[in-house]
Amino acid sequence: MDEKKPGKIPNWKSDFPIDKKKATHVSRREFAKYLGLFSGTLALGNGAIVIKSLYFPEEELKGEHFVCNQADVPVGEMFQFEIEGTAVVPYILIHLEDNEWRAFEQKCTHLACAVRYRADIDKIECPCHKGYFNPRTGDVLQGPPPRPLPQLAVVVKEGQIYVKAKDQEKFI
Ligand code: FES
Repeated sequence: MDEKKPGKIPNWKSDFPIDKKKATHVSRREFAKYLGLFSGTLALGNGAIVIKSLYFPEEELKGEHFVCNQADVPVGEMFQFEIEGTAVVPYILIHLEDNEWRAFEQKCTHLACAVRYRADIDKIECPCHKGYFNPRTGDVLQGPPPRPLPQLAVVVKEGQIYVKAKDQEKFI
């Protein structure tokens, strides 16, 4: 009950005195230790990604996959889709102005942000770090992405759009 009186130091504080300055001070050695730990964790993560891509490559896409009807995507528009039965990678289908179709993985090759087609500048944009890709080839035009966007071949059959692995047939 005495603890509630103003100005009186509670018992527990006098039993366990804490020097606030000491408690919040981080020495250079501690800082270096945490920095080393953080860098080591990042390096391990990167190593795991490299090992996964070397020893467990993603399976090649097999066969043709229906995406949508041609009429569903007007010229200049983008359509996002996934392919059932494959690792969940979102893709984008782009209906270019000259009535050509392109399909790419939607994951930016820099840090995997979702890219989008911008008809006003006729480029694929990654909004995270302003990376830009060519909407016809997937090549990097500007910014930090290190590789082109992986592309799928587009097949148009009787008003329907299908995609398949790009090297199975020349894209439209
Ligand atoms: S994640 Fe796309 S530019 Fe960085």
